[in-house]
Amino acid sequence: MEDIIKDILIKEDEIQKRIKELGKEITNDYKGKDLVVIGILKGAVIFMAELVKSIELPITLDFMSVSSYGKSSISTGEVRIIKDLDFSVEGKDLLIVEDIIDTGLTLNYLTELLEKRGANSVKICTLLDKPDRRTVGVKVDYLGFEVPDEFIVGYGLDYAEHYRNLPFIGTLKEELYLNE
Ligand code: IMP
Ligand code: MG
Repeated sequence: MEDIIKDILIKEDEIQKRIKELGKEITNDYKGKDLVVIGILKGAVIFMAELVKSIELPITLDFMSVSSYGKSSISTGEVRIIKDLDFSVEGKDLLIVEDIIDTGLTLNYLTELLEKRGANSVKICTLLDKPDRRTVGVKVDYLGFEVPDEFIVGYGLDYAEHYRNLPFIGTLKEELYLNE
C-alpha cells in the first residue's frame, strides 16, 4: 500500500498523543454538561473512536452522514443529509467530530443546522485542518493538526473510499488523482 503514499506527514504515535491531549481538554471544558459527541461518517470514525476513550465524562454518541453535491473533492456548498442523528439535540451540548476541514462548507452548514434545532451549544473538533482552502468561516474549537493543501489519506480519510485504514496521515501521490 506504501506505493500510493507520497509522504507520511504524521505518524501513528504522534496522532495518538495529540488525541489524548484533546480528550483531556474536552474533559475539562465539559464537566457537568450534557455532552453529545457527533461523528461525521465515515471519515471521523477512527479519530472519534480514539478520542472518546480519552474523554472522562458520561457522554453519549451519535452519528450523521452527509455528502456535498457534485463530484469528489469539489465542494459546491450544498450539503445533503444521508443519515440523520438518532436523537434530539434540544438543550444538549454538541461536539461535532470531523476528519478534516477543507472549504468549511460542510461544518458551516451543520453547525447552523444543529443550532436551529435548539442545541444549547455546538462546537467543532477536527483531526485535521487545511486552512489555505477555506471559503466560508468555521470556528475550530479543538484541532489535531494543520496540514498543507495536498490530498490527504489515512486515519479515516479516503481517496475513492480506500485507505481510511492506514494508521498514519499521508499525502497521496499526485499522479493518482491529478489526471482524473
Ligand atoms: P469541506 O466541506 O470542504 O470542509 O469538506 C470536508 C470534507 O471533504 C471532509 O469531511 C472530507 O471528507 C473531504 N476532504 C477534504 N479534503 C480531503 C483530503 O485531503 N482527503 C480526503 N478527504 C478530504
Ligand atoms: Mg468526510
